[in-house]
Amino acid sequence: MITLLREHWALILGGSSGFGLASADKLSRCGMSVAVVHRDRRGAMGRIQPAFDAIAARGVGFRAWNLDALSAEGRETVLGELAELMGAGRVRLLMHSIAFGNLKLVAPQGAKPARPIAELAQALGVAEERVEAAVQALFEAGHAELVHLAAPAVYDESNFLDDEDFARTIYAMGTSLVSWVRPLLERRLFAADARVLAMTSEGNRAAWRGYAAVAAAKAALEAATRAIAKECAPHGLRANVIQAGVTATPALALIPGNAQLLAAGKLRNPCGRLTTPEDVAGFIALMCTDEAAWVNGALITVDGGEHLG
Ligand SMILES: NC(=O)c1ccc[n+]([C@@H]2O[C@H](COP(=O)([O-])OP(=O)(O)OC[C@H]3O[C@@H](n4cnc5c(N)ncnc54)[C@H](O)[C@@H]3O)[C@@H](O)[C@H]2O)c1
Repeated sequence: MITLLREHWALILGGSSGFGLASADKLSRCGMSVAVVHRDRRGAMGRIQPAFDAIAARGVGFRAWNLDALSAEGRETVLGELAELMGAGRVRLLMHSIAFGNLKLVAPQGAKPARPIAELAQALGVAEERVEAAVQALFEAGHAELVHLAAPAVYDESNFLDDEDFARTIYAMGTSLVSWVRPLLERRLFAADARVLAMTSEGNRAAWRGYAAVAAAKAALEAATRAIAKECAPHGLRANVIQAGVTATPALALIPGNAQLLAAGKLRNPCGRLTTPEDVAGFIALMCTDEAAWVNGALITVDGGEHLG
């Protein structure tokens, strides 16, 4: 187990779920103090609060703010209260793990993918409906190999991405990182040797249907992180992007065609399974060690080799 310092804080934007929460949990186990910014409905707190309580019970510093990390007021509240809370402590890690993007299509889908269900039914001499039902049941039970035979993803073809959708997503999941880095620097809240980590996905290059705005945000996030790596290195920051593999989280469940993405990810992964939030959290903890201080401006895949195809 890695040992980290209690006076070092992780400020995690999007820390109530998925990679953010798993990282908060892991870092607290390593002894680091944790500050989480998240935005969740009151109904979701029944799931989230026990996880926060477990972190606080480890004796590290802990605080969570349920507010909009994308608003100037929200940021002001967090930074003001965090400065007081930390005392002589400092932010060792700023992690951007916010999932808040528009998932509309750019254009109608056109021709739907062809599936040889009818041919298969004929060859087997059984009704098409029986083949369809059997394939679907097996696919939903985890047989990823049936991805091309299972029912295709359904997309909303009544509403398409507009300029506002793009702009909001690019800010929420991309350039908002800079909105947090600069005031942390200006207020001298970063530790002398600190990390900035941002989350990207293979959808940064691959064109996934419905992912255009998020993909644009990922490109912006990666560019912003490179700029931070270059311009903030003299201030002690090391900024890197982590490209996680496809992972079953609430954000992924909202992407149209997520069942197909999960199946394809599992089939491609040489380790034979999907990435978990905990796989990524372990690497985040490694990046917080002194020994990781020379990694700067990199895009690092943490996906068990899924990207190898
Ligand atoms: N799940 C995947 O397969 C996958 C793969 C690679 C990269 N990523 C990226 O990882 C990041 C985290 O995704 P996840 O899958 O862990 O998502 P998630 O849905 O599990 O968590 C999203 C977090 O964002 C927070 N959030 C949303 N809007 C907010 C706002 N306005 N202010 C404050 N917090 C807000 C939520 O409260 C939650 O804590 C995203 O950038 C995502 O694109 C996800």
